[in-house]
Formats: sequence, C-alpha cells, structure tokens
Amino acid sequence: MEKIDILLLGSGGRESALAWKMSQSPMLGKLYIAPGNGGTPQYGTNVALSPVDFPAISAWVKENNIGMIVVGNEDPLVKGIYDYFADDDILIVGPSKAGAALEGSKDFAKQFMVKNNIPTARYRSFTADTIEDGFRFLEELQPPYVLKADGLAAGKGVLILPDLEEARKSLREMLSGMFGASSATVVIEEFLSGIECSVFVLTDGNGGYRILPVAKDYKRIGEGDTGLNTGGMGAVSPVPFADDTFMEKVRERIIEPTINGLLADKIVYRGFIFLGLINVGGEPMVIEYNVRMGDPETEAVMLRIDSDLVALMKAAAEGNLGNIELKQDSRTAVTVMMVSGGYPGSYPKGKKITGTEKVTESILFHAGTAIDPSGDLVTSGGRVISVSSHGKDMDEALAHSYASISLVDFDGKYFRRDIGQDLKR
Ligand code: AMP
Ligand code: GLY
Repeated sequence: MEKIDILLLGSGGRESALAWKMSQSPMLGKLYIAPGNGGTPQYGTNVALSPVDFPAISAWVKENNIGMIVVGNEDPLVKGIYDYFADDDILIVGPSKAGAALEGSKDFAKQFMVKNNIPTARYRSFTADTIEDGFRFLEELQPPYVLKADGLAAGKGVLILPDLEEARKSLREMLSGMFGASSATVVIEEFLSGIECSVFVLTDGNGGYRILPVAKDYKRIGEGDTGLNTGGMGAVSPVPFADDTFMEKVRERIIEPTINGLLADKIVYRGFIFLGLINVGGEPMVIEYNVRMGDPETEAVMLRIDSDLVALMKAAAEGNLGNIELKQDSRTAVTVMMVSGGYPGSYPKGKKITGTEKVTESILFHAGTAIDPSGDLVTSGGRVISVSSHGKDMDEALAHSYASISLVDFDGKYFRRDIGQDLKR
C-alpha cells in the first residue's frame, strides 16, 4: 500500500483526536502537526508553523514531500488555504474559500439556506446604514433576541438578549465595532427552542458524502448549563434523540440540499461540514454551519469510527469517496474536558500536570498543554486535556472518564460533573 505523509494544522483537543485516529491507519506515512501541543508528539512530529502562514507552510510541505494537509481549525479555511494550494500537487482536506464562507459569513450561510430551502430560523441582516430597519425588525420578533456578528469572532459573536431595550443597545454596539469588522454586518434571527446536536458530514465535492457519528457538546462553564460560554466542556456520542427517524429528516431536508446547493453554485467543498442543529419538537433546524470538525465533539466522535480515517479523508480530498465505508462503533463514547481554574476568564499557565501515566481506562487528548524547558508537562491554555472513554452505555463511559480525571492533577483543575445528564431526563 502506498503511504502518504500528512501535515495536520491546529493545536487543540480536536487535532489530538484526529492525530490519534490517523496514526492507526496503515496508509499513514509520517504525521506532522503544526503547531501541535504537549501531547501530539505521541502521534507524530510537532512543527513550529502557524496554520495561517501559507507561504511558510508551502515551503515546508514541498521540502518534506507532504501529500495531504488536513485543516483542523476554521481560520486557514476562511482565509483561503484551499485556493492557495489549488495549483500544487497536494491534497487538502477542507473547503475552498467560497465554501468556508458557510462559517466565515453568517449572512452568506443564511442566504444559502434560504435559497436551498433548508430549515433555519427566520432572519434579516443589517449594517450601520440600515440600523433603523434593524430596530423595526426587532419589534416584529418575540424575545429573547438573537444577534450574530456576520464574521468570525472566536466563538463569541452570538448574543442572546432577554429584552428589546438590550437588543437595540447590542445591535448599536455590534454595528459600531464591538467585534471589529466581524460585526459590520449583523444577522438578527428568531430564537429557536430545543436541544442541540452536532452532525458531521465528510463530502468529496462531487455529490459523495458520509455521515459521521452524531454528538452533543456542552458549551457552558457551569453545571446545569450555567455561566459563560466556553470552547466546550465535554461531549457525548451517540445522542439518544437523534434516532433513525430524526436522522432521515436531517439527511433529506438538510444534508442533501446542502451538498446539492454547493454543487449547483460550483462551490468546491472536499472536507468536513459541521451542522449545528436544533431539535424543535422533533424537526431538525440549522443553527449554524461550521466548515471543520467540532471541538470537543471530535474527541468523542473519533472513538466511534471503525474505519480508516486516512483512507476516508484522502478519498474525499481526491473528490471520490466511491464505495469506501464509514463503519460506526456501536459503543458509547464520551469526553470530559479538564480546564484551568478561571477559564473562560483569565487563568494561569505553566502549571505542572501529574498522573497522566496512571490513566488506563481513557484516552487523554491534550489541548492546552506544553512541554516546558525542563521537560515537564504543563498547562498552556484554558482547555487542558479532554478525557475520552468508551462504554457499553453513557454511564459506563462517563465512569471511566471521571475515574481517569481523578488520577490527573494540576493546580486549579476544573471540570463539569454533569456531562450527558440532560439526555437522561
Ligand atoms: P455559535 O457561537 O454560533 O456556536 O452560537 C452560539 C449558540 O447560540 C448556539 O450554540 C446556540 O445555543 C445559540 N443560538 C444561536 N442561534 C440561535 C437561535 N436562532 N435560537 C436559539 N439559540 C441560538
Ligand atoms: N463544539 C462547537 C464547535 O466546535 O464550534
């Protein structure tokens, strides 16, 4: 079998999980992770390159005979990494810049959904010139009010306001630069009520696609979904309410129209599509598109894929998934994130992490970790390590993750003890 050398871009728990899964493939030659973290050397070689420094990446991949670049995070995609390498003999797992606008511009994503009849919340977009129309549109809606910065805002660009006065004030602030250029256009939409889930699709840009195991993530810092939003505190897969009936609706009403809509508009898309869905009384609606895998969903989803991820991604990037199967592991997988005390506000870094070598029941996917000059594993970010486990059911998988968490320690360690509990009610 011909092996392929791969460069994976990113440094989070998601990239650790992708690297772990790729490292099991007989097709993998060398794996490099740029920039990686304190745990990724278990799977490959860290390379000190910025994921958005395309000229540096280009020079490096040529020197190192890389056959495929897997893009973990959205930034390089929205900035056009696919297009940058379009004339080179290298495969890219990820959409073109035009496709990445599904995440890079919420206004574009809404227009795309409306055009393709994909169920989503009613909306309108406004700029500073049309702020008065925005105020009038807010009056047509019921509280709470959902305001979204059009562009990327590091996951902070969505505001949900309880009353009209605050919504008006926030609209004014967003349009006058609250999120810089990202909020020069603001999408205002109807609030939808329901439970959310994340559906991931790998597509080859020619109509072929595979649906990955469905997951649910936990975004808030506090138990019972309280407190500030974070990058994600845990995830579970499968999601009980995303049963066959629900998923058939997702396929028919959302996935197929998305794939066909991209083809119709000649938007090149060979990579992962992340559908942020909400279940409104049994009917799936789209909250948002992302153009990459979710974090921390990936840290659960990778445990539920029984097929060769390198084979799947390479086929997608070549534009032909053909008849390659994506087999799912029927067991449950969960992940619980250990974070630095203070996160998502300010937190200390450089805290020594102990006990990782004692863990046998779980897989530790490093996120904000680094090796310090004396060789110690230390914290280097808010989300530190994602602790993933299999189980015959959710309780068993969670018991493994929580047992493992009790073995690992660092100053200020915090995690949520209620991951998955809402799904049992
Ligand atoms: P995002 O930062 O784009 O992931 O959005 C943050 C969160 O805002 C989503 O995960 C939802 O929980 C919530 N949200 C976004 N749009 C809506 C909506 N139309 N109705 C209800 N909740 C929403
Ligand atoms: N877990 C949500 C995200 O990756 O955006």
